[in-house]
Amino acid sequence: MTFSPKQQAVLSLLRNGGFRRINIFEGSVRSGKTWISMVVWGFWIAGSPKGSAYLMAGKTLGTLKRNVLEPMQSLFGSAFSFNIPKKEAVLFGRKIYLEGASNSESESKIRGMTLMGAYCDELTLFDEDFFVMLLSRLSEKNAKLFATTNPDSPRHWVKRDYLDNKTLDLLSVKFTLEDNIFLPREYVDTLRREFTGVFYDRYILGKWTVAEGRVYESFSRACVIPSKEIARRFSEDPPIFSVIGVDYGGSASASAFVQVVFGRGFRNVYVVSEHYDSANRSAEVLISEFTEYARRACGVFPVAAVYCDSAEQLLVKSFRQAVRLNVKNALKRPINTRINLLNRLISAGRFFVSEDCPHVVEAVEGAVWDESDTHRDKRLDDGTSNIDSLDALEYGLERYERELFGL
Ligand SMILES: Nc1ncnc2c1ncn2[C@@H]1O[C@H](COP(=O)(O)OP(=O)(O)OP(=O)(O)O)[C@@H](O)[C@H]1O
Ligand SMILES: [Mg+2]
Repeated sequence: MTFSPKQQAVLSLLRNGGFRRINIFEGSVRSGKTWISMVVWGFWIAGSPKGSAYLMAGKTLGTLKRNVLEPMQSLFGSAFSFNIPKKEAVLFGRKIYLEGASNSESESKIRGMTLMGAYCDELTLFDEDFFVMLLSRLSEKNAKLFATTNPDSPRHWVKRDYLDNKTLDLLSVKFTLEDNIFLPREYVDTLRREFTGVFYDRYILGKWTVAEGRVYESFSRACVIPSKEIARRFSEDPPIFSVIGVDYGGSASASAFVQVVFGRGFRNVYVVSEHYDSANRSAEVLISEFTEYARRACGVFPVAAVYCDSAEQLLVKSFRQAVRLNVKNALKRPINTRINLLNRLISAGRFFVSEDCPHVVEAVEGAVWDESDTHRDKRLDDGTSNIDSLDALEYGLERYERELFGL
């Protein structure tokens, strides 16, 4: 196994007892944090008591599995196994509990445990109460916690209460893209181009930066094109399929449907049609409007799926009954994940909106960060900007991150 110089420096901490009670590996995307954290976690556990209890947590069990457990399987082979339904894993004969840490209820799941060690994937996405409880459960002598994270707002609790707190027994190691010598140069260059604004500062430079100003800084009129031009491009280069994203309006918000077409090879993304209704008369009206919209949308491109706001299960069910389409719940991934995905497409010149979709154009153009929220990033949602079209658009896009960015 080979390591980057930064990773070797981290490994040497293992030999000379340099790790503290809390150890946080933070910094840029793809910088080698998770990789080395898994190796450290493995070596550390192998040298820790067999009879003790250990825990690994991620925002959800699903992300933990994808980000860490599956890679650990290829790293450690038969020395590591996991069972998601049982929420258990075994590494070098040590039993590890698995847990999701996304909301305040998750804190109760670890109450009463006595732990020797813990591993946290993407710490800034954790519920703060969960983390406080976790630290209190790490009560064995020499107990340790290892965590990885990308930077967030400087006001985030991870930064304010832990990384900046000099009184804690805490070690933080900062990684930047340059530290990962294993990435092809072109890939690093592409990443640098795709991230802009606050995401560039955080994910490329590894800085804890406040989100201010426009959310989609690189979106300009150049991204808005006539439907005739879209039709011309599609006749030259037929697209793969389309999806519809749906956001249901509440009392103060609108209902929005957005049709997104994926170009060949998932290269470009086109918003080709929209429906926007701020009147929200009744569920019946909404269902009939959707039926009509879906019929027209299918007439233009095959619709592979419809992704609906999962907060309104009754409406999702009604939509499912109303049309012969694959109607699913939206994933509703964290807001920054969704924003970053669209920003990457825009910065790379891969995102286009038809002139026939003024609400989507206005929504992307007008979205600004809510600077009054002191703890976490929020898109301003006070009725002055159109969040509904953005939600619908992102529900359509978020499922295809892998295909779009070849992860
Ligand atoms: N020591 C290594 N040997 C071989 N490949 C490596 C090594 N370290 C990192 N890599 C490669 O670099 C990629 C990115 O590393 P890693 O997943 O650790 O990044 P990360 O800092 O956790 O990024 P993110 O913030 O995006 O989660 C890995 O998927 C792997 O392909
Ligand atoms: Mg990682």
